[in-house]
Amino acid sequence: MAMWMQSAGFKRYLTAVSVTLFSGLFIAGCGSGTPEGSGQKVNPAPVEVTGKSGGNGSEQASSVKKPASSSNNESPAQTAAGEVEGDEAAEKASRSVVDFPMPDLTLLSDAAFQRNAKMGRLVAKRRCILCHKIEGRGAILQPPLVQVSMRRLKRMLDYDEYLEQLQSGDPDRFTAGQKTFEAIRLEQDVLKSMRLWLKGYLKHPTFDNSQAKMPLQVLIPAEIEQLACYVIQLAVEGYQKGETPLED
Ligand code: HEC
Repeated sequence: MAMWMQSAGFKRYLTAVSVTLFSGLFIAGCGSGTPEGSGQKVNPAPVEVTGKSGGNGSEQASSVKKPASSSNNESPAQTAAGEVEGDEAAEKASRSVVDFPMPDLTLLSDAAFQRNAKMGRLVAKRRCILCHKIEGRGAILQPPLVQVSMRRLKRMLDYDEYLEQLQSGDPDRFTAGQKTFEAIRLEQDVLKSMRLWLKGYLKHPTFDNSQAKMPLQVLIPAEIEQLACYVIQLAVEGYQKGETPLED
């Protein structure tokens, strides 16, 4: 997992891939499924983007602010000149992709995933809102759902290391959840590994952490699947909109 950070050439290669993926997502919008991605768990490309280089950052920003069907051939020169136009949302979005190594987002355009996420949003607005704010509404007992979701996505990037600590620090818990943990470890797609994690968590919030504070939520398996998809979507959209994840 740490290896990707070490190769500058590899990162530059992935930068190109990432821009394509990222733009592709917004052009494709909802619905058009693409083949499963494989290989790298993380696409570290955005780390390379700096405020000065302009090119990638502005290209991504213009993808973000455009609606699904618009073309992507707007000149990046506007921002490369250093004169950043006043679109705060786009600015924020480009900043967030700089801060966060956006993973492969293919899963988000899967039709079944989208259906589940849609249902999950409705379940969340009935159930999770008792503690987490959703879309600005609900209780403030706990951080908003988007913020805990973003932090979880970030945590999935070094979950392998977390599991190593769990195995030595809390071996009983590790053994009890081993099947789930192995599945998460083997899953190369970060969003899919997050889905496996969320299913474990929503079934049993302390499944990988004796200190987890969330009380057990009584949910049926279909609701868990739907909520998992919704939480993943929320996390990615949070980063795309430049929202701030909860601090670790
Ligand atoms: C009774 C209050 C309560 C309810 C209801 C609740 N949560 Fe939570 N949730 C918590 C607490 C407490 C935390 C821990 C916050 C922290 O880590 O700072 C938490 C954390 C989380 C996290 C982050 C976990 C992690 O370690 O990454 C997720 C995701 C989450 N909740 C999802 C949900 C979903 C989905 C629902 C609706 C089914 C829900 N919560 C309902 C109290 C609640």
